[in-house]
Amino acid sequence: MYSLSTLLVIILFALKIHSVQPGKCPKFCICDNIQLTVACVNKNLTEVPPTIDEITVKLDLRGNDMQELPTGAFTHTPYLTHLTLQNSNIRRVREGAFRRLGRLVLLNLANNKIEILYQESFDGLSSLKQLIIDRNRVEEIQPGAFSQLGLLNLLSLTHNQLVYLPNMAFQGLQNIKWLRLSHNSLNYLATEAFAGLFTLTRLSLDNNELQFFPTETMTRLPEVIRLELSHNPMTYLGEESVSMPKLTHLFLDHNSLQDFSNAAILLSPHLAHLDLSHNQLRVLQPMAPGSPKLTRLNLAGNPIYCSCYMRPLREWAIRERVRLGGTCGGPAHLSDENLEAVQPIDLRCQSQEAMLKAELEEQRRLPTLPTTPPPDKVKCPANCECEAENHHSSCENKGHTKIPRGFSPDTRLLDLRGNHFHYIPANSFPGVAKVVSLHLQRCKIHEVEDGAFNGMKSLVYLYLSENDLSSLSPEAFKGLPHLTYLHLEKNRFTQFPKGAFKLLPGLLALHMEDNDITKLEAGLLTGAEKLRGLYLTSNAITAVAPRAFVPAPDLDTLHLGSNKLKEVPSEAFSKASSLAEINLSRNPIRWIGAGGFQSIAATLKHLYLNHMGLEKVSKDSLAGLGSGLRSLFLEGNQLEELPDLSPLTGLEVINLAENPLLCDCPLLPLRKWIEQVNLKVRATCGHPPELRGQRVKDVHVFKSCPGEKPPSTQHPKPTKATKTESALISPPKVIKIVKAKGKPRKIAQPKTVQKRTTKKRKSV
Ligand SMILES: *[C@@H]1O[C@H](CO)[C@@H](O)[C@H](O)[C@H]1NC(C)=O
Ligand SMILES: *[C@@H]1O[C@H](CO)[C@@H](O)[C@H](O)[C@H]1NC(C)=O
Repeated sequence: MYSLSTLLVIILFALKIHSVQPGKCPKFCICDNIQLTVACVNKNLTEVPPTIDEITVKLDLRGNDMQELPTGAFTHTPYLTHLTLQNSNIRRVREGAFRRLGRLVLLNLANNKIEILYQESFDGLSSLKQLIIDRNRVEEIQPGAFSQLGLLNLLSLTHNQLVYLPNMAFQGLQNIKWLRLSHNSLNYLATEAFAGLFTLTRLSLDNNELQFFPTETMTRLPEVIRLELSHNPMTYLGEESVSMPKLTHLFLDHNSLQDFSNAAILLSPHLAHLDLSHNQLRVLQPMAPGSPKLTRLNLAGNPIYCSCYMRPLREWAIRERVRLGGTCGGPAHLSDENLEAVQPIDLRCQSQEAMLKAELEEQRRLPTLPTTPPPDKVKCPANCECEAENHHSSCENKGHTKIPRGFSPDTRLLDLRGNHFHYIPANSFPGVAKVVSLHLQRCKIHEVEDGAFNGMKSLVYLYLSENDLSSLSPEAFKGLPHLTYLHLEKNRFTQFPKGAFKLLPGLLALHMEDNDITKLEAGLLTGAEKLRGLYLTSNAITAVAPRAFVPAPDLDTLHLGSNKLKEVPSEAFSKASSLAEINLSRNPIRWIGAGGFQSIAATLKHLYLNHMGLEKVSKDSLAGLGSGLRSLFLEGNQLEELPDLSPLTGLEVINLAENPLLCDCPLLPLRKWIEQVNLKVRATCGHPPELRGQRVKDVHVFKSCPGEKPPSTQHPKPTKATKTESALISPPKVIKIVKAKGKPRKIAQPKTVQKRTTKKRKSV
């Protein structure tokens, strides 16, 4: 029974609601009824306000906290032409989320956390011209994701986590002009990845992990005139690599090119601008007869050696009126001279004697030049397969007991996996100085003789995984000045092969996972001073010497997971001044001493401390860690308490799951901290028994704790914190529980190589 006054209130309230309905502005938004725009910016809204006026054409929802866009999220605003949703914490776009937005022209989803583009995520957007998904976490594009976007001109997916593109990834984009895929981790593009893009004129693939020019994939793009491949790790371009009928601008700057075939662009008749700046080219030949008429060739930032070998190029440039960018890197008297200013006559190899010397020097430096025209039939040892077109040679699983000889000197990839070599004698690879990638996995190798790889001056990737190696002599890797990625995982090392890397000054990533190494001694990495990634997961390491990583100034990724460490090797860490990612998961570490990570707090971004049986993490354990830390994994431990995590203001990911947290007053700081971030946090109580399994966020036990204001549990959403409060408990931006999966990183395993071989073999 209501009193009269209550009834009156109810009626007034109902009237008020009614009068708000049409044409009015939702709470937290700013509306312009003439321009028909609605802006609800930086309001932490968790859903699209349901009362937006139907006739709205521009809707701005930046800076909210949407988490998920459900199916039909915008059905009540069918006249929208512009929709902006940047920075709105969106993780998932459900199938049909934009259904009924048939007039939408621009959709901006940048700076969110979307991981997968589902098949029907963009259904209904039949007028869309621009779709911006930059700076998300997209790692998968499901087939048909864009199939309804027939009018789209621009698709931008930069700064995501794409590693490969499957066939038909962009099917249905019948009017696409520009596709931006810069700043991903792409290392493999399926042959038909861009199939059907008959209107695409510009393709941006810069800042990816492409090791080879994807010739076949690119051939499917008949209209592309501008191709951006800057900042990829390509080491060479072979003959007829670029076969694109309308291409005019090609950017290959900031790669690692050591060789560029003079017939590389033979099949791209309209190419005019070729940017090869900032590579490793020492000399370049004039483009082969029949090549397109270049107007500009940029060679800036290459160590061009201006000797008689450069004369043909200079003469060609003058004759063909090609503008040459760049300067001479040597010899001394021409150093820093503009190529354009050097006359052909100055490009000399002085006296007969000096010329011979220079030639020898040049050959030693660059074994491939001057190139002789390739023979028609490619040289190939018995019981192997060799392909002239892509310079791959394979003798995989052929039962060879000796390293075959007689490969073409142009071979770039040599695949010898699955044979029975047992040991690799000195000088096993004569005459293949251009090989970039050498595969020797599963060959039962137990010994590598000194100088085994002598002469392989272009080798960048060496795979010795899944063999029987237990030691390596310091001279084993002699003569490999460019070796960058070395795989020694799944061997029988019981000691770290200290000293074996001293001849590898260019080594960036060293894989030693799944061996039986028991300790890390001082000065492990002597010589490999550029090393950035050291992978030692699944060994038997019990101790790390304080000076183990001296010197390794660039070491940023250190994986020590699944070892037998009983404590955090803080002192060793303190000597590695660039450490950004440390994985200690699955070590029997029970507690973390004071300041365990203090010395590397300035650089540390990702810390994996999960599944260790950790019983205690005190405030002092995390001393020094502050806004720099992005992810912290603590799941699967024995933690009952946690210190105040509020200094970790830069945290984007934290995982506290599977810990027996004791839900009582000492946990109040954590509880308060969780409350400040209105996101799902799955820290659960383990004790007391009656609360077991409940989320820390939901239990009421904290109400009676000293320091807790009674009403706070009644407000699930954070109210505006007062100044002092937010200073005390400054919340991190995001908290979430994630599966600990490897994220693509710069030092990626070059999968391309293997994929390409298998693919090629099938087509042979
Ligand atoms: C939104 O949430 C963030 C972080 O939780 C907070 O700093 C900010 O003050 C909130 N903004 C509004 C308008 O509530
Ligand atoms: C950390 O190490 C564990 C093995 O102990 C492994 O399972 C996990 O994938 C690693 N995490 C990352 C991100 O590499």
